Amino acid sequence: MRTAIIFIVLLAVCWAKPFHQRGLFDFMLEDEGSTPDIDEGGDPTVTFPPFVPAGPMCPFRCQCHLRVVQCSDLGLENVPKDIPSDTTLLDLQNNKITEIKDGDFKNLKNLHALILVNNKIKKISPAALNPLTKLERLYLSKNNLKELPSNMPKSLQELRVHENEISKVKKSVFDGLSHMIVMELGTNPITSSGIENGAFQGLKKLSYIRIADTNITSIPQGLPSSLTELHLDGNQIAKVDLDSLSGLRNLAKLGLSYNNIATVENGSLASIPHVRELHFDNNVLTQVPAGLAEHKYIQVVYLHNNKIAAVDVNDFCPLGYNTKKASYSGVSLFSNPVQYWEIQPSAFRCIYERSAIQLGNYK
Ligand SMILES: *[C@@H]1O[C@H](CO)[C@@H](O)[C@H](O)[C@H]1NC(C)=O
Ligand SMILES: *[C@@H]1O[C@H](CO)[C@@H](O)[C@H](O)[C@H]1NC(C)=O
Repeated sequence: MRTAIIFIVLLAVCWAKPFHQRGLFDFMLEDEGSTPDIDEGGDPTVTFPPFVPAGPMCPFRCQCHLRVVQCSDLGLENVPKDIPSDTTLLDLQNNKITEIKDGDFKNLKNLHALILVNNKIKKISPAALNPLTKLERLYLSKNNLKELPSNMPKSLQELRVHENEISKVKKSVFDGLSHMIVMELGTNPITSSGIENGAFQGLKKLSYIRIADTNITSIPQGLPSSLTELHLDGNQIAKVDLDSLSGLRNLAKLGLSYNNIATVENGSLASIPHVRELHFDNNVLTQVPAGLAEHKYIQVVYLHNNKIAAVDVNDFCPLGYNTKKASYSGVSLFSNPVQYWEIQPSAFRCIYERSAIQLGNYK
């Protein structure tokens, strides 16, 4: 019954605290067996040991509940010590952490998600992530990293490193990351020469990649054929070459808005036969990309804000019998030199929904 008394005492201590720490009771119950001993015969309410139960509990000022440890917005400059080893999600966003050191995550072998968004992290020590053998999500956006972390856990499925200072992407940092599905590298000072040839090639399950608002001038080569979404908006890409998209037979969405694309080489779109959405708006195209009419699944083609001066009657729709399997749901051509009355209505003969076509040069 001694334990029960201690528990009641602790309860009283907790209620006296100015904030509510929900996770504490769970840990108390789990650690019941290891509760510190009290002198025989002593009065437990008087000789109660310092308020430091054995084993891990919730780090000071964090909130712990159901294996989720919340330590966001606390002005922390370091990763807190004594994070419970059964933690599955650790949220450290909006703090002032500058460095991730070896040992910061020791014992966290059950961690699935690590959120470090919006700190001041410049450095991640090479062995810091090694203990995280079950990590699936690593969110590092809005920090000051100059390079991607090395030795990322092989279990990783999602990596977000938006808004850092990364200029180089080396192939070796992705070694063995065969479970990676989602990667976000946008708003970094990456140039095309900074991406090592075939850097992403080994990521055999990669489905989504976004490298938007960087300084790359060409579509990265050697992207894995598993990709379904490729988002490269807001870059300096000037051309889609014949082999730029080769091998991407599963690609469904291609985002190339806000680049400097003047040419989409005839034949390049044939590499992506399953594409459903193409975003080419806000470029300098002078004609509708060749090959759209042969695409069976294409539904959305954004071409507004370009320099397209003419639309051919066969640019969008197949010749003769309609072999398209999906209908267009969005085609935009406004803010181009071509005037809508100059386009033959039959250019849109395979588009059954009038509202799917946006033509006028509306402001
Ligand atoms: C791209 O390069 C320009 C000029 O060098 C630079 O001002 C700009 O910040 C760069 N953009 C990014 C996202 O690095
Ligand atoms: C693209 O190439 C095909 C096959 O060579 C050809 O039939 C077609 O006319 C070309 N389209 C354009 C717009 O040049």
